[in-house]
Amino acid sequence: MTEASGPAVANGGSTAQAPMAPVMHRVVRRHQDLEDTVSLWLEPVDQPLPRPMAGQFMMLWAFGIGEAPISLAGNEDGLLVHTIRSVGAVTEALCSAAEGSEIGVRGPFGTGWGLAEAEGQPVVIVAGGLGLAPVRPIVTEILSSRGRFEEVTLLVGARSPETLLYEDELAQWRRQGSIDVGVTVDSATPSWRGHVGVVTSLIEHTPAATGTRAFVCGPEVMMRFTARALIDRGLDPDAIAVSLERNMHCAIGHCGHCQLGPAFVCKDGPVLAWSRVEPLLKVRER
Ligand SMILES: Cc1cc2nc3c(=O)[nH]c(=O)nc-3n(C[C@H](O)[C@H](O)[C@H](O)COP(=O)(O)OP(=O)(O)OC[C@H]3O[C@@H](n4cnc5c(N)ncnc54)[C@H](O)[C@@H]3O)c2cc1C
Ligand code: FES
Repeated sequence: MTEASGPAVANGGSTAQAPMAPVMHRVVRRHQDLEDTVSLWLEPVDQPLPRPMAGQFMMLWAFGIGEAPISLAGNEDGLLVHTIRSVGAVTEALCSAAEGSEIGVRGPFGTGWGLAEAEGQPVVIVAGGLGLAPVRPIVTEILSSRGRFEEVTLLVGARSPETLLYEDELAQWRRQGSIDVGVTVDSATPSWRGHVGVVTSLIEHTPAATGTRAFVCGPEVMMRFTARALIDRGLDPDAIAVSLERNMHCAIGHCGHCQLGPAFVCKDGPVLAWSRVEPLLKVRER
């Protein structure tokens, strides 16, 4: 991957003054998306942090418990939006944060999706499960300036209808009609009327034109199969951006927790071109 062809690179965390110092934010809105998943809208108590780009992540700090890297799911009127699944101590504390309570935030960190490079081109966005959260800012940005892109397709997969994230918003995007939205579940319930199958089964029906850019986020195995399916449709591996997850601590390239071969996922990623990621995934994680 060349810098020119790969995802946009941020300055590795534009909080140069004090990248390790959390900045207090107030929870101004909390929405229970799924049984184990919550979205929080955060407003700075005092000084705002630099505005994050789509694809970047913030370190969210639950007092007395710890920090977790969480992707940007939206930036609405100066509020950071994060969608968090409760899987352990930190994410459980963040999901339990009440409206009016305060949490610490560091960032923004990492690389962005590089959406500007897709201008004038067809776009395919593929999300699996909670992977819809980090690609949500791509969709909202495209919808706010639809004319900048050619045909846009969003493909979403979930394990079951009950685990489908942002269901109302997906329906709204579909009704709006300016992008194609495909949704599938691995296993259906009796009331499900939509497509059943893994998300890659939707790719077969996607028009693939020269110059198509793809943005993919989900479990690693899903991203691997999706990248292969997109390459089979004729996409260039350099034009497929994926977002990686690794355990993190410092988020600024110092501690080595997130190292994947020669790359630090916190600094060189999390968004990387598939051409660069594929060989790295063959390297055992430290
Ligand atoms: C760049 C990046 C962006 C992320 N964005 C989001 C997001 O938008 N929403 C969200 O809910 N989560 C996101 N995550 C994952 C989130 O950071 C972890 O779930 C969280 O750190 C778990 O902390 P915990 O203390 O709650 O659980 P722990 O007790 O630390 O872990 C619970 C389980 O999750 C696994 N785990 C912990 N951290 C990670 C990780 N980073 N990647 C994969 N597995 C992990 C552990 O091995 C364990 O099995 C992101 C991770 C990264 C690296
Ligand atoms: S989290 Fe410390 S080097 Fe990436």
